[in-house]
Amino acid sequence: MELDLAGKTAIVTGAGNGIGAATVARFVKEGANVVVSDINGEAAEAQAQALRDAGGNAIAVTANVVNEDEVNAMVEKAVATFGTVDILVNNAGLTRDMRITKMTEADWDIVLDVILKGAFNCTRAVIPHMTDNKWGRVINISSRAHLGNRGQANYSAAKAGIIGFTRAMSLEAGRNFITVNAVAPGIIGTEMVKSLPHWESIRENAEKTTPIPRVGDAEDVADAIVFLASERAGYISGDVLHVTGGRY
Ligand SMILES: NC(=O)c1ccc[n+]([C@@H]2O[C@H](COP(=O)([O-])OP(=O)(O)OC[C@H]3O[C@@H](n4cnc5c(N)ncnc54)[C@H](O)[C@@H]3O)[C@@H](O)[C@H]2O)c1
Repeated sequence: MELDLAGKTAIVTGAGNGIGAATVARFVKEGANVVVSDINGEAAEAQAQALRDAGGNAIAVTANVVNEDEVNAMVEKAVATFGTVDILVNNAGLTRDMRITKMTEADWDIVLDVILKGAFNCTRAVIPHMTDNKWGRVINISSRAHLGNRGQANYSAAKAGIIGFTRAMSLEAGRNFITVNAVAPGIIGTEMVKSLPHWESIRENAEKTTPIPRVGDAEDVADAIVFLASERAGYISGDVLHVTGGRY
């Protein structure tokens, strides 16, 4: 299937590692220009350099998605380098897991800020460019945790919130041929999950209970994201694509 992404420009937040890093690599394979954005500037630069070494068009931008000025500067740099922005992947995220009685206000705020305010800041900054082009794709990374997980009140609330944000934005942006969708991964073996103290039991449990009996790879999620970003997905909007090995 031809995805027709050659020459399109994609910004992926949190692209220094994990799912975001796999996604920028997949976009480059399809001939897209990529902005590898991350709060961790060294990780972003390393990914962008690897993509350039492989012949891709990639720049790194250090940006905290919670900071409006840094987000606006990221989008300005993308436009100055590649001419416009066609695709945004709101991927930056983090966890601060604990039971609610132990959860601090700071644990609550940082998770909701990075996931929800981050998506708000980035989407608001790119929509004018997509509106001018009468073409755009926004893909928000939710999680199976939107259904609710013990010890993840903050993360589950944010990942459910991002689905509401996706639906609202799909209604606002559709008239300009901008689609807005969410991808909701299950357990994906990135550092975010592998660094958990009970990773081995998570992995064993996933292998026993997931209909497709393995943990997901970052590339499994990247493939879903790139499909939704492509020309082939132009009539899909406001939807959630579950990448959970059937565990939904
Ligand atoms: N790994 C999983 O099992 C899984 C499952 C469901 C959803 N997700 C979601 O997928 C996305 C990517 O997760 P991952 O597993 O690749 O994690 P990861 O930790 O490997 O990557 C997340 C990246 O986000 C960056 N980041 C964190 N805060 C940021 C900020 N304020 N501004 C900009 N960048 C920031 C980090 O530096 C990191 O590079 C997240 O939104 C996560 O919630 C992951």
